[in-house]
Amino acid sequence: MRMFEDLAGKSALVTGASRGLGLHFAELLAGHGVNLTLTARDKAALATAQARISSDGGVAAIVDLDVTDKASVEAAIAFVPGTLDILVNNAGITAGGSALTIEEHDWDQVIDTNLKGSFLVAQAAAKRVSDEKTRGAIVNIASILGLRVAGGLAAYAASKAAVVQLTGALALEWARYGIRVNALCPGYIETDLNRDFFATEADKHLIQRIPQRRFGKPENLDAPLLLLCSKVGDYITGATLVVDGGHLVSTL
Ligand SMILES: NC(=O)c1ccc[n+]([C@@H]2O[C@H](COP(=O)([O-])OP(=O)(O)OC[C@H]3O[C@@H](n4cnc5c(N)ncnc54)[C@H](OP(=O)(O)O)[C@@H]3O)[C@@H](O)[C@H]2O)c1
Repeated sequence: MRMFEDLAGKSALVTGASRGLGLHFAELLAGHGVNLTLTARDKAALATAQARISSDGGVAAIVDLDVTDKASVEAAIAFVPGTLDILVNNAGITAGGSALTIEEHDWDQVIDTNLKGSFLVAQAAAKRVSDEKTRGAIVNIASILGLRVAGGLAAYAASKAAVVQLTGALALEWARYGIRVNALCPGYIETDLNRDFFATEADKHLIQRIPQRRFGKPENLDAPLLLLCSKVGDYITGATLVVDGGHLVSTL
């Protein structure tokens, strides 16, 4: 059997699939024969993504989802046709600014989306997998900012560090249900989340601190994501996989 062929015919829900990495992951999985459920709040963008996947020969359903809202999460998980085999817990936001002045509302939005949202979706997915007595793979999209810090991103870094720790806790509890839970920690990958920042002078300084002297591209995450979703990674659970051009090992 060729690597990742087991994915064909599986079913995956991707959060934050309206754009950026989530859309990229959805298209990647669809290209490997996975039946997709695309979720996000922007239903028009999901419809565009669905049309793109369908025109490439893939299968995708769409359902709107706000990961901070438990009822919305439960409805989206219940909506997934067939079995639910894979969850890519990708939806995330950032709010920059000094930790002295960050507004409570911005702090809450980041923590509610990145941490509570990831938990609510993982919990609902795991309940479904355990009720249906199938097996599952959950990939939480964390960040290198969950493992080291950068100025002006306290809420984001705290939320992603918590996602890394949540990943281990869920992997421990859910191995008995045949559910693997892993975290993927990308470095700086160019998407809508950071394109404005990458266009500034600050990015020139940032790039000097990346041993490979370049930002990542979404495709750099392809093999790591497939590994964590596929049977090929069957003995990997509770792991944190860093894909960052060496950024975390930059010299002190
Ligand atoms: N790009 C990077 O360099 C990088 C590096 C490390 C980690 N990451 C992580 O990778 C993930 C994707 O980032 P990205 O760069 O692709 O960001 P992006 O382009 O801004 O996309 C974020 C996605 O999250 C969705 N989302 C936001 N809030 C949501 C909510 N309350 N409920 C449901 N969906 C919500 C958005 O959809 P709607 O607005 O339509 O809801 C959108 O699809 C995030 O978790 C991010 O922290 C990114």
